[in-house]
Amino acid sequence: SASRATVSIATKMSKASFSSTTAAASKKVAVLGAAGGIGQPLSMLLKLSPHVGELSCYDIVGTPGVAADLSHIPTPAKISGDLPAAGSWPPKGNDGIARALTGCDVVVIPAGVPRKPGMTRDDLFNTNAGIVKGLVESCAEHCPGAILAIISNPVNSTVPIAAEVLKARGVYDPKKLCGVTTLDVCRANTFVGEALGKDPREVDVTVIGGHAGITILPLFSQVPGFMDAVDEKKMDALTVRTQFGGDEVVKAKAGAGSATLSMAYAGYVFTENVLRAMDGEEITQCAFVESTLTDAPYFASPCKFGPDGVTEVLGYGELTAYEKGWFDKMLPDLKKQIQKGIDFANN
Ligand code: NAI
Repeated sequence: SASRATVSIATKMSKASFSSTTAAASKKVAVLGAAGGIGQPLSMLLKLSPHVGELSCYDIVGTPGVAADLSHIPTPAKISGDLPAAGSWPPKGNDGIARALTGCDVVVIPAGVPRKPGMTRDDLFNTNAGIVKGLVESCAEHCPGAILAIISNPVNSTVPIAAEVLKARGVYDPKKLCGVTTLDVCRANTFVGEALGKDPREVDVTVIGGHAGITILPLFSQVPGFMDAVDEKKMDALTVRTQFGGDEVVKAKAGAGSATLSMAYAGYVFTENVLRAMDGEEITQCAFVESTLTDAPYFASPCKFGPDGVTEVLGYGELTAYEKGWFDKMLPDLKKQIQKGIDFANN
């Protein structure tokens, strides 16, 4: 029967599953940008999460329809859809973003414009910086204790913007602000699975740095068996493919946007892991967070998550000479992109 169905999308990285038998559907999650290419499938996956008791879909367009639609999926999560001004589902006054955010445990933010062919993530800065700043101001006001998961690009800059906004409001907690880099891990796992002839769910690549081009650094040397199976040329090709995997999708979509379905999956895995940690499980996953591991003030590395977000920013082990080459090349770029976000927020 439908009530006993368990659809597992388990990965080693996540062990996330849609199960109607495990439950403590007690958390409130909001998706800001919920009517978008990422927002809609991400909201659908979160509607299936056994941890979500309430799901708020917020966007400047379309969320009453998205919410009404999702509300017919028979899972415990209660759905609402809000717009900035008039219009909501279910109809209930005109609270806009306040209703979406009040009481939230986790807020996932995929609001903003995506890339078109030929664009870098930094080309999105002018539009998305302001969108993220405004939305995080609302989070500071309505759910200052929530964990924020930033998907909007350029993540290397939008996370520092969010931190500055929260600091200015006196509610910044570095444990509770993450840039989502899980798609880089997903891509690396997929490509390694293909290269080694392994089930990609058995692979868990550590990906460090940031989330744009050469700031993405997969540490393939740490994958058991990888170095024996793959020569340097192949490793280089897989590294570059992971760094620029997003471009494959942007190009194939030919102007219609960037990764949405794989990103929705990655955003779901990230959020589900955050929720599981809130419910007491020990979780380690990569995230772009405030960090003292390098001279970049924010850095993606494996992080331990607990009930209040990131409990420990873990190191990333020894780098090979090959990886060190990329690391040295990446840091100046990453620091520049971080500083750009800090400057934007403060001016
Ligand atoms: P999209 O254009 O399909 O959807 C974006 C949504 O944001 C739209 O529905 C739009 O109405 C909404 N929006 C715009 N301003 C808003 C505001 N002030 N408040 C609430 N909602 C607002 O774009 P898509 O493909 O969903 O991508 C969204 C973002 O995610 C882009 O910035 C993209 O670069 C980024 N992205 C990040 C990835 C990552 O790995 N972190 C991977 C793929 C995309």
